[in-house]
Amino acid sequence: MKISTQGQIWLYSTLAILFLSGIVWAYAHYYMPPLSAFEPGVSPLEPYSMKIHGAAAMVFLVVFGALVPLHMRRAWKAKRNLTTGIFIVMACLVLIISGYGLYYWGEPDSRINISLIHLGFGILFPVFLLAHALIGRRISSKIKNSCAAPHGPKGSVPSEPL
Ligand code: HEM
Ligand code: HEM
Repeated sequence: MKISTQGQIWLYSTLAILFLSGIVWAYAHYYMPPLSAFEPGVSPLEPYSMKIHGAAAMVFLVVFGALVPLHMRRAWKAKRNLTTGIFIVMACLVLIISGYGLYYWGEPDSRINISLIHLGFGILFPVFLLAHALIGRRISSKIKNSCAAPHGPKGSVPSEPL
């Protein structure tokens, strides 16, 4: 259930690219003036950042898929860190489904709402992930320590080593 170092590098770097490209797009879209005062236009940062974002989103789907059997299924069976685990899966699904919505649910009004939901969850995602990882590690090290104790806590069932 512990994610391998290589797996963590893939996960964190893909998420960092998604996060930064999303923030650059939002900054360019909401705060940068149009290219010309006479012609409506968008900053070139917008299409560039979305090209990077779209590519990273595809890599993220592969990394997320790999986490299902290697991390989520095993932690689920061991009933470890379930509350924040379910929460982080829901947050991922909101980002993935709203990302799909940005491509295909084309009505302008609903697109703006989907865009704001996606951006809001995206900005908060690093906080959710950090909380999940820290709480998960604390739970695992508590279990390890109690298994290492000579008699273990009263009535405890030794858990699967990580
Ligand atoms: C059913 C859902 C999930 C459960 C029950 C779960 C459970 C856990 C547990 C028990 C740990 C502590 C592992 C240890 O250090 O021994 C952990 C850590 C972690 N989890 Fe999850 N997790 C779930 C989903 C996810 C998802 C969807 C992601 C990423 C998108 C994720 C990312 C991480 C990361 C980055 C760590 C810290 C690295 C590590 O200790 O391996 N988890 N999780
Ligand atoms: C990690 C934090 C993330 C942030 C801050 C973020 C932010 C953004 C922003 C600001 C947009 C542009 C919205 C618009 O066009 O109105 C966007 C588009 C998009 N995002 Fe994310 N996002 C994140 C994660 C994800 C994830 C995990 C996925 C899916 C795996 C994803 C998939 C997409 C897709 C498919 C688009 C549409 C691309 C396009 O229109 O060319 N994003 N994201």
